[in-house]
Amino acid sequence: MLLINSLFLVNLFMKKILIIGGGAMGSAFSVPCIDNNNKVFITEPYSQRFIKNLSSKNIFHSGLKINLSKKLIFKKYAKELFFEKYDLIVIALSLSGINFVSKELKKYKVKSPVLVLTKGLKYEKKNKKITTISQTLLKNIPKLNVSVLKGPCLAKELARKNQTSVIIANKNIKIAKLLGKMISTKYYLIEYSKDVIGVEICSAIKNIYSMIIGSGLSLNKSSSLFQKSLLEMKYITRQLKGKEETVLSLAGVGDLYVSAAGGRNSKMGNYLGQGFTFKSAKKKFMANDTVEGEQLVREIAPFILKKFNSKKIPLMFRMIRAILKNKKFSI
Ligand SMILES: NC(=O)c1ccc[n+]([C@@H]2O[C@H](COP(=O)([O-])OP(=O)(O)OC[C@H]3O[C@@H](n4cnc5c(N)ncnc54)[C@H](O)[C@@H]3O)[C@@H](O)[C@H]2O)c1
Repeated sequence: MLLINSLFLVNLFMKKILIIGGGAMGSAFSVPCIDNNNKVFITEPYSQRFIKNLSSKNIFHSGLKINLSKKLIFKKYAKELFFEKYDLIVIALSLSGINFVSKELKKYKVKSPVLVLTKGLKYEKKNKKITTISQTLLKNIPKLNVSVLKGPCLAKELARKNQTSVIIANKNIKIAKLLGKMISTKYYLIEYSKDVIGVEICSAIKNIYSMIIGSGLSLNKSSSLFQKSLLEMKYITRQLKGKEETVLSLAGVGDLYVSAAGGRNSKMGNYLGQGFTFKSAKKKFMANDTVEGEQLVREIAPFILKKFNSKKIPLMFRMIRAILKNKKFSI
């Protein structure tokens, strides 16, 4: 009887979480969710490689190089998935998957709260505007309860339960805190913000600034680029209607540090600093790597070049020129 009662209690507090996106980040995110006693489902709509990983017996993830918990439940991506009610749906796809998932959530009239891990911005050609991911989702589904989670988090480290601090933003801080309670653990620490736009802008543009910092080639030069990058990030965040102080949060300077210290963006920046053009560096050294900073440059350049003053954000303008015109990057 006692056992039945305690099982009932566990189930009562156990939340149902669906993670859409079985790449490195979506899969790593399942680790604290499971440790916090949630029932965690994961689905993969796009990559055969991740489907194979997640449906294998040992749940070995080829990106994380780790066996995931047997408690993680893999679900084939299908419309039936959305017939169930979840306490939380997590979006962990790359930026290129956002339009797809936005249409799907609308089609299946999803009412569960949504938490976005994806980092990036979109340029709306029609309205000539830069939009964040939460704005893109809300435009499609105005009543969606959407929060964003960003910050310095290498998926491989989180999957190995290294201490990681991130920030959840929602205009309604109570909702952000409820989500935080659902997913935080001793090693996954959560901070909160109401500045959804600022958090999204910072977490996206840090990919471009980590390329710029990576081009420094020496710690002295990179440190000075780091300081100048922060000033430009403050300016851009303010202009795009985020809060300047968010640049000093985990989503801004926190994430900039981890990306500049290591990672694909700063690696590309390093080649640019050595005098390679973007195309030659990509072909020669990083042919199979996604460089998120480059993708973001291409996405937002039409807006930045038109609406911003090059004297206010000279580093950004030089990086845009280097990538779009395939010119050497010099500072
Ligand atoms: N919020 C955080 O703490 C945090 C930390 C690290 C990374 N991220 C972000 O998470 C996102 C995913 O990163 P990752 O390291 O898991 O990348 P990954 O390459 O390992 O996985 C990418 C995921 O997106 C899917 N995808 C790719 N192209 C798609 C398309 N055209 N349509 C639909 N789905 C598509 C893949 O199938 C896979 O599920 C990125 O935006 C990254 O910046 C967030």
